[in-house]
Amino acid sequence: MHIFITGVSKGLGKEFVEYFLAEGHLVTGIGRSHAFDHPKFTFIHCDLANVNEVKSIQFESKENELVLINNAGLIGKIKRISDQIESDIQEVMTVNTIAPMILCQEFLRQTHLENKLTIINISSGAANRPIPSWAAYCSSKIAMDRFSETIYLEEQEKGRNIKVFSVAPGVIDTSMQEKIRATKKVDFSSVDNFIGFHEQGELLSPEFVVSKLVKLLQKKESNPVISNLKDLE
Ligand SMILES: NC(=O)c1ccc[n+]([C@@H]2O[C@H](COP(=O)([O-])OP(=O)(O)OC[C@H]3O[C@@H](n4cnc5c(N)ncnc54)[C@H](OP(=O)(O)O)[C@@H]3O)[C@@H](O)[C@H]2O)c1
Repeated sequence: MHIFITGVSKGLGKEFVEYFLAEGHLVTGIGRSHAFDHPKFTFIHCDLANVNEVKSIQFESKENELVLINNAGLIGKIKRISDQIESDIQEVMTVNTIAPMILCQEFLRQTHLENKLTIINISSGAANRPIPSWAAYCSSKIAMDRFSETIYLEEQEKGRNIKVFSVAPGVIDTSMQEKIRATKKVDFSSVDNFIGFHEQGELLSPEFVVSKLVKLLQKKESNPVISNLKDLE
């Protein structure tokens, strides 16, 4: 199996890479930086906010079973949309939505119909409800849910051996949550909820989340949108 995964410098993506390398798989990280030094790890440098760089990515592999994990993402500026500038919206939508869509497109184009393919798009619970001050983030994630459902049907029509998932991983103890907790209440009305999750020890560890998400690779059927890790029991 060969796993291509975005955003491997920290957080969930770094944890995924550690898991897959420990399992003996080939891993290609895609992103701006990484700290891996392993014979089975290769890296493609790419700023996912730059569409031209994203389009140039090559999914080269001798393996038959290939996995694409669109993990990289950002919450962006945590402010009401009227307090943001246009480039704030553009960055979130490009990294969280346009780049993963293009990577899915290139992955499907560059691989063979006979390859066994799995696509895992890391979505968010924010896809399922509006959260003031996260307008672009919520929108970027729900777009990936519907995109995943649609491309799964498209590839079924072509008779391809594929599974596609868009999965909300829960609230995880990463730098994204640190940024959320550090936001001023004047900009983010729900900040106390996130401070509370942290204080009450409710954040999931990246290790725990990866141990659940890798079960997607064993699933026989594709059920593209998974909004709760409990659905992976
Ligand atoms: N943490 C949570 O509670 C939570 C909840 C629901 C969903 N998620 C989703 O889970 C995924 C992983 O998030 P995380 O919590 O692990 O966040 P994180 O610790 O902030 O890591 C984000 C990763 O995305 C990469 N990235 C961001 N912008 C990039 C760009 N322009 N080009 C290339 N790489 C870029 C970062 O690389 P750099 O080091 O280069 O910035 C980093 O490797 C995201 O899609 C996020 O939306 C997280």
